[in-house]
Amino acid sequence: MTGPIGIFDSGYGGLTILRQIRGLMPEYDYLYLGDNARAPYGTRSFELVYEFTLQAVRRLFDMGCPLVILACNTASAKALRSIQQNNLPEIDPTRRVLGIIRPTVEALGEISHTGHIGIVATPGTIRSHTYELEIAKSYPDMQVTSEACPMWVPLVENQEFDSPGADYFVQKRIGNLMHHDPEIDTILLGCTHYPLLLDKILKYVPSNVKVIPQGEYVANSLQQYLLRHTDMEQRITQGATCRYLTTEDPSMFNESATIFLRQPVTAERIILD
Ligand code: DGL
Repeated sequence: MTGPIGIFDSGYGGLTILRQIRGLMPEYDYLYLGDNARAPYGTRSFELVYEFTLQAVRRLFDMGCPLVILACNTASAKALRSIQQNNLPEIDPTRRVLGIIRPTVEALGEISHTGHIGIVATPGTIRSHTYELEIAKSYPDMQVTSEACPMWVPLVENQEFDSPGADYFVQKRIGNLMHHDPEIDTILLGCTHYPLLLDKILKYVPSNVKVIPQGEYVANSLQQYLLRHTDMEQRITQGATCRYLTTEDPSMFNESATIFLRQPVTAERIILD
């Protein structure tokens, strides 16, 4: 069976990943699904994030996707491994679900000079310790400091990322991180919503510190994956289209997604269960 690449996120954040992937590989068809009605995931339990993510993956499979990218760190941290190990063999072992944490971590080695890394992410991603564990596997000498930012996703989901109110929450979290380890020279945005806050983040980060959104690394890694797995690549249809699905009111999704992607978006509503 052939079909589009499925891209899933709890809400709008995955659009920052989709934009980079489509920029690099515009020839493929894409099916984006945002579970906006149940976002944010970052403060939810392991069980719920797993249940919701599995529902989304099943739906994207039902709609013909041979490959689904969890363009959400929270879902990648909490649900990816369980879905790959427990569900995929029984649903369809020829399909694939990939996350975005490993590709991001792999890129870190070339970016940091001091080996001191700061991670900002949702409370769920931070509590899972997935970034620390993955970094320790690839770069055992790196010093990692993590900071959970529970308010950042709501600021983005509610289009408040440009507002003066956002400054307070961004300054507070970046301040905590740099206070904890002043040698940090690289801050990784471990949540796909955070690139929307980049201008605010850069205001409060010392000028020698690099701030790294993940989209570019995820897109490059997916391209390499498809070059290595030609059997999968041949199952992806090439009509250069993108269709958008949301579990919320589509008119809300269209308005925000159009701002995030800087192009008109027309979404359809679906119900996940
Ligand atoms: N965008 C998601 C991530 O990368 C999470 C947002 C949420 O909390 O729903 O972690």
